[in-house]
Amino acid sequence: MSLALDLPRLQTALRLPAQDERQKLLHGLLQPQARIDSKYFYDDRGCELFTAICLLDEYYPTRTEAQIFNQHRDAIAALLPTNMQWIDLGCGDCNKTQSWLPAISPARVVGVDIAGEFLQSSLAEVALQHPQLECVGVVTDFTQHLDLDELLAERPGAPPVFFYPGSSIGNFEPRAAIRFLRRIRAHCGPDGRLLIGADLIKPRDVLEAAYDDANGVTAEFNLNVLNVVNRELDADFEPTNFRHFAHFNEAHRRVEMHLVSTRSHSVDLGGHADRHFGAEEHILTEYSHKYSLDEFRALLAASGLRCSQYWTDPQDWFGVFLAEPI
Ligand code: AVJ
Repeated sequence: MSLALDLPRLQTALRLPAQDERQKLLHGLLQPQARIDSKYFYDDRGCELFTAICLLDEYYPTRTEAQIFNQHRDAIAALLPTNMQWIDLGCGDCNKTQSWLPAISPARVVGVDIAGEFLQSSLAEVALQHPQLECVGVVTDFTQHLDLDELLAERPGAPPVFFYPGSSIGNFEPRAAIRFLRRIRAHCGPDGRLLIGADLIKPRDVLEAAYDDANGVTAEFNLNVLNVVNRELDADFEPTNFRHFAHFNEAHRRVEMHLVSTRSHSVDLGGHADRHFGAEEHILTEYSHKYSLDEFRALLAASGLRCSQYWTDPQDWFGVFLAEPI
């Protein structure tokens, strides 16, 4: 039997041509407040470093969410529609979906991710362990475009359950989060659901340690984005000219990651343009918004979604929310 025959179907919906993506990246770097979209963290090395972050003592979100899932999996599964299409947004290695499969038996699994090759191999692993299960991969930047109508219509009568764990929603500013959640809601029909994880407000020292660990793994993750930008733009960022900085911006209720230029210097952004960085000038690389339970339910409501139930850990550090269209 040829393994190739067992590879899950993969469809590509990468709408923005590479040239436009590079233009946007360049534009961000040339702004007075330079910024790099956090999606650029995740090259092969970045994915590896993120996996390492998830195992750090200081980085509580992954572990806390897993604890909530493990404790309440059967109760949550019992609230989901039967014969669902399970849509994993940003499925990565598919490990989280794998942990749900014994509890949910979906009609099919749709893995959505921006990293195509990684998606193909992680879905192949799911398919190998669940030979009866249809697995479909969609390669897209779903934060920009989410159009799964045709795909979902292939299985009439199988409502979608969108799975968006890990507090990835925190990368969006609240208004953009609402726009994104509304797009999910538009796919739901009457019986669709959203199962989403969100990181909660907690003391500053806990938050800041989670984004600036003692071993410097998060620092390396942050600095690695410059290597990605170098490849994307043919730029010549020197990571040693920057240091990692993470802080909790309480007014905006978000942890921010920055790269701080340690000296005045110029970077060639690939022949298109030069960018001068003064000493102590910052490049913004990530927002990670934190919510109270009430705030997150209000965010869902503003997106046309009613939170039917939610689960937390004993310290209220992380929330898992089940929502349905209002
Ligand atoms: C994957 C976006 C949820 O914001 O906590 C981890 C990424 N950044 N450490 C987060 C991240 C620094 C993570 N998300």
